[in-house]
Amino acid sequence: MLIPGLKSIVRAFYSVEDKRLERTVFGIKFPNPVGLAAGLDKDAKLFDELGILGFGFIEIGTLTPKPQPGNDKPRMFRLPVDSGLINRMGFNNQGAVAAVERLKRRKTKVIVGGNIGKNKVTPNEEATSDYESCFETLFPHVDYFVVNVSSPNTPNLRELQDKAPLTALLSRLKELNAAKPVQKPILLKIAPDLTDSQLDDIIEIVKSTKIDGVVATNTTISRAGLKTEESRVKEIGMGGLSGKPLTKRSTEVIRYLHEKSGGSFPIIGVGGIHTAEDALEKLAAGASLIQLYTGFVYEGPALIKRINTALLSK
Ligand SMILES: Cc1cc2nc3c(=O)[nH]c(=O)nc-3n(C[C@H](O)[C@H](O)[C@H](O)COP(=O)(O)O)c2cc1C
Repeated sequence: MLIPGLKSIVRAFYSVEDKRLERTVFGIKFPNPVGLAAGLDKDAKLFDELGILGFGFIEIGTLTPKPQPGNDKPRMFRLPVDSGLINRMGFNNQGAVAAVERLKRRKTKVIVGGNIGKNKVTPNEEATSDYESCFETLFPHVDYFVVNVSSPNTPNLRELQDKAPLTALLSRLKELNAAKPVQKPILLKIAPDLTDSQLDDIIEIVKSTKIDGVVATNTTISRAGLKTEESRVKEIGMGGLSGKPLTKRSTEVIRYLHEKSGGSFPIIGVGGIHTAEDALEKLAAGASLIQLYTGFVYEGPALIKRINTALLSK
């Protein structure tokens, strides 16, 4: 896909390669702690190229067992005044099997996480089998898994964050994982809209199911504190809000989980990282790795380099 020779020029321009940036987290050695969050490379079409831009890891997905079109367009809206985005994509993707065909043609050694979900038509009572299917299909081809139960754009999905269904789901995936000759890390991605007592449940579930960590956070359903005209926000309607309006809340969630759990599991911090300072704040709050989505859309790939350079000059 890339023009020959361009790869090394792009890599030299954007990526910062330095041993001091390496992090070993849940048993994987990351070349640097700045990753791409789920949702941008849903179908595993661009992970090699995105790795060349300097990301330390790429999360593909959310993938579902069957392909599905997602919600009607328009389904993504820019809030430039707020440096935010509202999206209601609804897990548009070509399915886990199609992603595997592309993963098999991996051209670089970039670390790839597989973010998995359920199809819209699958009722919550049968959700486990969708996650199982994605897990088994992707297992040989990804380096770690993220169980996404926190998207606001699949009806009732976030109810799977409740203690009983979540414990059952994660326990089942742990069982499947244990049956493999070599296990892969399993993380849980949570919403920023959980209350403290729900976060306490999450800590308990991570400990009891012995999963490997948490990705905090997904987009928010809150619209508090936006500078964008209320009428415009109303007109846009449903969806998850990301970017700058989320920075503070996602850091709060990271700090709460880290402090309350005594740092007993790794956290990937994501939500409104638009500057190197935002990234350092997430790491200081207890994140071991961070991810970008909206900040990458607004700031471009130079943001990855700015963060890594700031880490080196700390
Ligand atoms: C357009 C769009 C699509 C997204 N799709 C997914 C997805 O499929 N799965 C997922 O776990 N998160 C998805 N996310 C959430 C991001 O991975 C991230 O958690 C969230 O946007 C907060 O980070 P940010 O403020 O840096 O964007 C999506 C976000 C956006 C903006």
